[in-house]
Amino acid sequence: MTKAVRQMKENLSLVDMLIEITDARIPVSSRNPDIDQLRKGKLSLIVLNKSDLADPERTREWAAFFENSGSTVVLVDSRKTGDMRGVKDAIRALSREKKERDLKRGIKNRPVRAMVAGIPNVGKSTFINSFAGRSVAKTGNKPGVTKGQQWIRLDKETELLDTPGILWPKFEDETVGIHLAWTGAIRDEILNLDELALGLIGFLRQNYPGALSGRYGISEDGTDLSIMEAAAAARGCIRSGNETDYHKISGILLDDFRSGRTGRITLEHVGRNLPA
Ligand code: G4P
Repeated sequence: MTKAVRQMKENLSLVDMLIEITDARIPVSSRNPDIDQLRKGKLSLIVLNKSDLADPERTREWAAFFENSGSTVVLVDSRKTGDMRGVKDAIRALSREKKERDLKRGIKNRPVRAMVAGIPNVGKSTFINSFAGRSVAKTGNKPGVTKGQQWIRLDKETELLDTPGILWPKFEDETVGIHLAWTGAIRDEILNLDELALGLIGFLRQNYPGALSGRYGISEDGTDLSIMEAAAAARGCIRSGNETDYHKISGILLDDFRSGRTGRITLEHVGRNLPA
């Protein structure tokens, strides 16, 4: 972690603006706990990414929440280059304020520089590639390729660093871990799939009633386990001897949720379901 922090700080010292990528489904768990400290003195743009998968009403609430705390916010599906127009407008607007301030202090024609940062899997590379309109080479990791910072030009006054800053989530908080796992930000190999899926069923029944019955054509009455068994029966996850294949249905439940097939769902709401 110390190396990551050092690198992040070095890169931050090169820029005026921090573009923080978050996952709109988990706007708290997908943020680094130290980010507000790290960003001090920088222009702040918060990207609520994967908003195509999130509950639109909750996303609007989160946008208002972050705007109230002094950041500019944009909602995007980073896979869509068309969504970058709004991002570029927001960056220009933020840069303009900075330029006006620079001018008042006698500084002319200094480009505003920005960098992207976020926790793993939040969509940083997807965002940068869409922003650049091409796949930006990751020069740093290949032998024989010159290391060093490369800048993607937005216009003659604004540039974006092509390498994102990788931040870490607040792993020690159990809710953060679960929300990251449900959204697929943590690799499944290190998790107990069945428990995760069972927990997700409980969350969905409570917060998005009808989502499971809509997806699997089953009743949401009963226990979380009986609902899992009903979903398994509906999806043919049955072993010989009429036994439920819990592992298989767990994988399906999680996959469906992560890809948005269970609906547009946000796990953290302003004021509730939040990690400590
Ligand atoms: P990172 O650099 O922050 O680690 O994340 P990366 O861009 O690699 O994105 C992680 C996964 O999230 C990728 O899916 C990517 O396609 C997906 N993703 C990024 N932004 C969005 C978005 O706005 N909406 C949706 N729905 N998905 C997004 P993957 O399955 O890991 O890879 P791939 O098979 O899609 O390439």
